[in-house]
Amino acid sequence: MPNDDAAWWRDGVLYQIYVRSFADSDGDGSGDLQGVIDHLDHLAWLGVDGIWLSPIHPSPNTDWGYDVADYLDVHPELGDLQTLDRLVAEAGARDIRILLDLVPNHTSDRHAWFVDARSSREAEHREWYVWADPRPDGSPPNNWLSVFGGPAWELDPTTGQCYLHNFLPEQPDLNWWNREVHDAFDDIMGFWFERGIAGFRIDVANGLVKDAELRDNPPPTGEDPPEVLRRGQRFVHNMNRPEVHDVYRRWRTLADASGRVLVGETWLFDPEVLATFYGSDLDELHLCFNFSFMFANLEANALRAIVEATDAAFPEGAQPAWTGSNHDVGRFPSRWCAGDPARIRCSLMTLLTLRGTPFLYYGDEIGLPDVPLDPADALDPVPRRTGKAERNRDPCRTPMPWSGEPGAGFTDPGATPWLPIGDAAASNVADQRGDRGSTLHLTRDLIALRRERPDLRGGSYESLPVPAGAWAWRRGDGHAVALNLSGSEVAVEGVRGRIAIATERARDGEGVGGALALGPWQGAVVETAP
Ligand code: NOJ
Repeated sequence: MPNDDAAWWRDGVLYQIYVRSFADSDGDGSGDLQGVIDHLDHLAWLGVDGIWLSPIHPSPNTDWGYDVADYLDVHPELGDLQTLDRLVAEAGARDIRILLDLVPNHTSDRHAWFVDARSSREAEHREWYVWADPRPDGSPPNNWLSVFGGPAWELDPTTGQCYLHNFLPEQPDLNWWNREVHDAFDDIMGFWFERGIAGFRIDVANGLVKDAELRDNPPPTGEDPPEVLRRGQRFVHNMNRPEVHDVYRRWRTLADASGRVLVGETWLFDPEVLATFYGSDLDELHLCFNFSFMFANLEANALRAIVEATDAAFPEGAQPAWTGSNHDVGRFPSRWCAGDPARIRCSLMTLLTLRGTPFLYYGDEIGLPDVPLDPADALDPVPRRTGKAERNRDPCRTPMPWSGEPGAGFTDPGATPWLPIGDAAASNVADQRGDRGSTLHLTRDLIALRRERPDLRGGSYESLPVPAGAWAWRRGDGHAVALNLSGSEVAVEGVRGRIAIATERARDGEGVGGALALGPWQGAVVETAP
């Protein structure tokens, strides 16, 4: 078992940057890598230890970078390799590591591999993708559905076969039964490791390998989560094949050889299955996103059950990852909290004090909500393709409001941002930085507390008895966290000590003599008396 107990990604806080929306350094309305460099001081001040950059590679942007046309370069709109090198160096000077987004499930249809693959059945890269004959009536080879709507197969008229695309037709799936594909990704990872990249977030981590016989997917059962019911089939053959674990055992050796970290986008709802992606000997992914947690409501019982089930299912030493927001599922200040500042503060306290590695999404630190946008204008292809307005991901990808000025400190005042900025005057970094009581300062203080207290980083998690609507847990020997996720007053019994940080900041430092009283939507981290 690798010894990574002291690894930075266990102790640290990670921060996801959607580069196009973080900061625009050249006034074209789109964020870029220089913009990230320009705001590293904000992230250092906040206390983050690592940044995950959403895809930065050349791409036709049909799926905004998740359709990669060249894995070894930087999209010219975002910068170039030299800018990325500078970002790695400047971040490193502030003890911040840079992770890239690796997209191994599919390429863009403009990637040279696919351009070659579709040129003839004998092409050098033909077997790098998944091809099958249509049925005699011209229908797709099997019943597999795309995550983004419609059949997962597209007929290629030149060669008369269909290729698989679990996402858009412009995102052909790679064939992970082909050793050459494995070798190509070994090389890609090596290329970036040599440039000082600290690791990867792996897109569609559970999806790479497909059933070798291309068997039909079965229909859902009544017990399946809403996501599966909505799709109308269980994705057991077009993804989620057990052979994917061989890929991660191999990658883990590559990553551990140079101290890098692998984070899986593991879109899975059974904690036992999620646990398998860590490897029974902790020899697969270092961290796996927990989508059950993201999709739960902000309810004490629901969240506690997920955290306890995660704890019980994970192999000894596996580190959970906790996330409220990302560029697909939306922002927690809207999804969990309906914009209520008190709930937002409770959510941040939860994310930053559970046992595990927190991932913040840019803007979480100020409680940034989704920006309401007309789905008719969506740049995200998914609402158009599925006909479902609620699947528009643009509202959680809008520019970071750095200030209340025109352009929001994101872009030049006269420039048109690539997505609307929203109400920057209502909430922005500059205003919150000037206010000690702000959400931004709460986030920063919670991160600092975590850094300062070993219990909050590595201490065990144990649920504590609570009245209805509350959730409380012990961390290690010397800390307890209690949250009132309800609209009524509660008292959490059996807590004695001193409040280190309360969501209601006036209570910081208050003594607790055996029962912690919490008003509606309040929480506190307590340093407990021995
Ligand atoms: C997951 C990514 O997070 C999402 O944005 C993308 O559309 C799909 N994978 C396909 O790559």
